[in-house]
Amino acid sequence: MKSTVINAAREAGKILKENFGGDFKIESKDVISNLVTEIDKLSEKKIIEIIKKDHPGHYILSEEAGALIQDSEYKWLIDPIDGTVNYAHGIPITCVSIALEKSGEIILGAVYNPISEEFFFSEKGEGAFLNDKKISVSKEIELGRSLLVTGFPYNSGTFKPNPADTFKKFLMKDLPIRRLGSAAIDLCWTACGRFEAFWEYNLNAWDVAAGFLILSEAGGRVTNFQGNEFSVYGKEILATNGFVHEEMMEVLNS
Ligand code: IPD
Ligand code: CA
Ligand code: CA
Repeated sequence: MKSTVINAAREAGKILKENFGGDFKIESKDVISNLVTEIDKLSEKKIIEIIKKDHPGHYILSEEAGALIQDSEYKWLIDPIDGTVNYAHGIPITCVSIALEKSGEIILGAVYNPISEEFFFSEKGEGAFLNDKKISVSKEIELGRSLLVTGFPYNSGTFKPNPADTFKKFLMKDLPIRRLGSAAIDLCWTACGRFEAFWEYNLNAWDVAAGFLILSEAGGRVTNFQGNEFSVYGKEILATNGFVHEEMMEVLNS
């Protein structure tokens, strides 16, 4: 299963790289700003093909194809391009994200940005790696010296609580904040110490499953905004280096 996740991410990554900046079809989904490109579909087709060949009985949940349900304790969670809006605009912050859940627990995760050639990988209990080098979270203990990252749902205008109100709470503390446009990359960049903390509302399991494992295995902490156990099927994620987690929760819940 480890070789399947690595191979699928690499093969899909090749498709992203070959077509990056090229001419491809772009469509809107539920809201006009939520895009899907021809390349999302090509990437997804390749990943599903590889998984089905290696593990024909496994359950697959993929962003564009939906749920390909089989009676299995193994479930693959696939985002064929995380950062599709970036990809469509030629912004090189984009990736393939693939995770494997076994009986409700994420056991494998790969996040691959083929443009920057960064391959993040983790297997439960074995640590987290960036291009085969072990990574760990930042050692910063103060929120005041932290660099934060967040993202916004495509339905931010109507989403409750309003993500702009939460964003403002951090802004009012004069904290530096980035918005990269790929939740999987946000989590991996927190895992390797570039950011101290990431929060977001309303993500899906395929956005966060691989990054959640990678960050957890890099020594980070992931919960909901109340500090309760994180579920990839939940609607809030707070992911930090662990040290600034409580301070982040104080701001989020203020
Ligand atoms: C999106 C990205 C983005 C996040 C959005 C996601 P997509 O995924 O992860 O950072 O803010 O909420 O939907 O649409 O590029 O796969
Ligand atoms: Ca996504
Ligand atoms: Ca996607």
